[in-house]
Amino acid sequence: MVLRATIAGCGGYLPERRLSNDELAAQYGIETSDAWIRERTGICFRHIAAPEETASDMGAAAAREALAQAGVDASEVDAILVATSTPDSAFPATAVRIQAKIGATKGFAFDMAAACTGFVYGLGVADSLIRTGQARCVLVIGTEVYSRILDWTDRGTCVLFGDGAGAVLLRAEENGGTTADRGLLSCHLHSDGRFGDILHIEGGAGSTGGPGLLRMAGKEVFRHAVTKLAAVVDEALGANGLTHADIRWLVPHQANARIIDAMGRKLNLPSERVVVTVDKHANTSAASIPLALNEARRDGRIADGDLVVMEAIGGGLTWGAALARF
Ligand code: UT7
Repeated sequence: MVLRATIAGCGGYLPERRLSNDELAAQYGIETSDAWIRERTGICFRHIAAPEETASDMGAAAAREALAQAGVDASEVDAILVATSTPDSAFPATAVRIQAKIGATKGFAFDMAAACTGFVYGLGVADSLIRTGQARCVLVIGTEVYSRILDWTDRGTCVLFGDGAGAVLLRAEENGGTTADRGLLSCHLHSDGRFGDILHIEGGAGSTGGPGLLRMAGKEVFRHAVTKLAAVVDEALGANGLTHADIRWLVPHQANARIIDAMGRKLNLPSERVVVTVDKHANTSAASIPLALNEARRDGRIADGDLVVMEAIGGGLTWGAALARF
C-alpha cells in the first residue's frame, strides 16, 4: 500500500461581470474585431473582477466549493497552496488571506509564482507533501485578477486574459499505487529562465521599475507551447508506462484554442475528450485548469475512474503536466 493524493473535491469562481469581445473593444477603444479574436484565439468572453474583488476573495469562494464537494470542513485542512501572479499583496500571502477567509486555522499556507503553470506546480508540491506524510488534506488554488496587470492599450495581450479562480481539495488515501488506482499518478515540472523575457510582468514589488504590466511575445510563446507541452505529456505518460490511448480526458491550460487543438491532435484525442473553456473564460492563467476541471467534473463528463492529463505553460518559462485518476 502507498499514500496517494486523491482529488476529493473541485470548485470554481468567476466574477459576475462578463465582457464580450465587442464590448471590450468598445470600452477600451481597441482596434480589433470579434472575428480576429475568435479566429486567432477561440476567445468570445472573459470575466472581469469587480473593483473591490481580490484574488483571495475569488480563491476563497472556489476553495469553499471544493471543500463542500469533498464534504470536508475547513478545520481539517493541513495546507493551502495558492498559485497566483496577481496576489492581494506581496505578503501576507494570498494563501494566508484565504486561510483566514475560509476559517482554517491549522497547518500552513503559502503562494507560488509559476504564472500559468502555477496550478500544475501546486499539484506537484501537494503530491509530495501528501506522499511524504507531511499533510493529509491540501487545498490547491489558482486565482488571478489579470485585468489589473493588463496594458489596455496593447491589443496583442489585453484581449487574451480574464479573471477567475479554481480549486481542488486533495486528500491522502492508501491504495495499491498502480495506474488503475485513483489519485495523482505523477507530476512533471520544468522551467527555463533563459526565456524569462518573452512573457513577463514589467515591474512589481522589489523590482527596479516598470508599470507592473504584462508583456508577451505571443508568437514565441506559441512556438514553445506546442513543442514543450507535447514533450511533457509524453514524459508523464512514459513515467507511468501509459500511452496516448490510455487518456480519457485532456484538461489543458486555456490560453489559445489553436494550441489546445494542436495538443488534442498530437495525443490522438477526439475533440469531445478535450475540456475547453477558453471561449467563455479567456486565459485565466493559474486558474484555468482548475476552472475547467471543476466544470467537467460537475457536468458529469469526468467520471470516477477516468484518467485525466493536465498540462500548462507560462511565464518563466515554466511548464508541466500532471496525470490523475479520478
Ligand atoms: O498563458 C501563457 C501562454 N500563452 C500563450 O500560450 C499565448 C501564445 N500566443 C498566442 O496565443 C498567439 O501568438 C496570439 C493570440 C497572442 C497572437 O496570435 P498570432 O497569430 O501569433 O498573431 P500575431 O501576434 O503574429 O499578429 C498577427 C497580426 C499582426 O498584424 P500584422 O503585423 O500582421 O499587420 C498583429 O498586429 O494580428 C495583429 N493583431 C491583432 N489584430 C486585431 C494582434 N493582436 C490583434 C488584435 N486584433 N487583438
